[in-house]
Amino acid sequence: MATTALAPREDLYGKVSQQIPAIEWPVFAADIDAIDELKKRRNAVILAHNYQTPEIYHCVADIVGDSLALAREAQRVDADVIVLAGVHFMAETAKLLNPEKTVLIPDTHAGCSLAESITPEDVRMLRRSYPGAPIVTYVNTSAAVKAESDICCTSGNARAVVESLGVPRVIMIPDEYLAKNVAAETGVEIITWKGHCEVHERFGAEEVAQLREDYPGVVVLAHPECPPEVVEASDFSGSTAALSSYVGKNKPQRLALLTECSMSDNIAIQYPELEFIRPCNLCPHMKRITLKNIRVALETMRHEVAIDPVTAARARRAVERMLAVR
Ligand code: 13P
Ligand code: SF4
Repeated sequence: MATTALAPREDLYGKVSQQIPAIEWPVFAADIDAIDELKKRRNAVILAHNYQTPEIYHCVADIVGDSLALAREAQRVDADVIVLAGVHFMAETAKLLNPEKTVLIPDTHAGCSLAESITPEDVRMLRRSYPGAPIVTYVNTSAAVKAESDICCTSGNARAVVESLGVPRVIMIPDEYLAKNVAAETGVEIITWKGHCEVHERFGAEEVAQLREDYPGVVVLAHPECPPEVVEASDFSGSTAALSSYVGKNKPQRLALLTECSMSDNIAIQYPELEFIRPCNLCPHMKRITLKNIRVALETMRHEVAIDPVTAARARRAVERMLAVR
């Protein structure tokens, strides 16, 4: 009797076949096998952000989530090595919370336009200019910038962090739009910076209006790094994890996620019955991480994240204060 050869790792391919052409799969499957084996050998875990591609997110990641979840999980993981499938500031945050562990970032050029927009000297200047106003720093920044700050926040807890301070005025850096969106929610006066996410600043309110016209009934979900007029025109705004749980809870039949492209790819795999309209933008930094360079990172133990101990101690304080909020 003739038998049909199974595709390699057919179990996993079943999950991601809507997003990955069959012709590409054998190469991915070989990397996935190698990564599985290397994870055991190195006692390593892979933490992956929600913007990672489906073959990373669904096939090799041990933990997936938004920046807040990754920071919390980084604190809890029981492993010698953490591979951060995400951008550099996320790997630095994992290292701050795990100084004794080896933290690897598969590509050191996986940066972030927000992290690039501000320096430690800028933060010191803001502190001098607004004496007494606490400095809330988005985690999308370098450890050196966090070290100059009073407390960090993510898009998942920005409102709670600002409210926890109980003051009428705060400095919130470097994302101008996140700060304005939080100011609108909290009524707290927020002094901000001119940093923008190069992915989310490209969405406009007219795009939301067009979506509603072209796709009647569409539910529009926006990340709070989008300009305030986009958030206002949307049905819901939240961190990548909040967007994902909104979809799980409300199951909107037709929806559009105003955020990075892999978000829709990853959630669409979980909810194939929903119609995803995809007006997304790619984050070139997130896309630098591939199965190939994750495999090489684990084979060669490159690129290890290192933070000088004095900066790390001050930056850790700001991150830990944030984690204590909620
Ligand atoms: P989240 O914390 O919502 O996952 O966002 C991180 C990020 O970089 C969004 O652009
Ligand atoms: Fe930075 Fe924007 Fe990319 Fe997120 S999506 S990592 S904020 S550039």
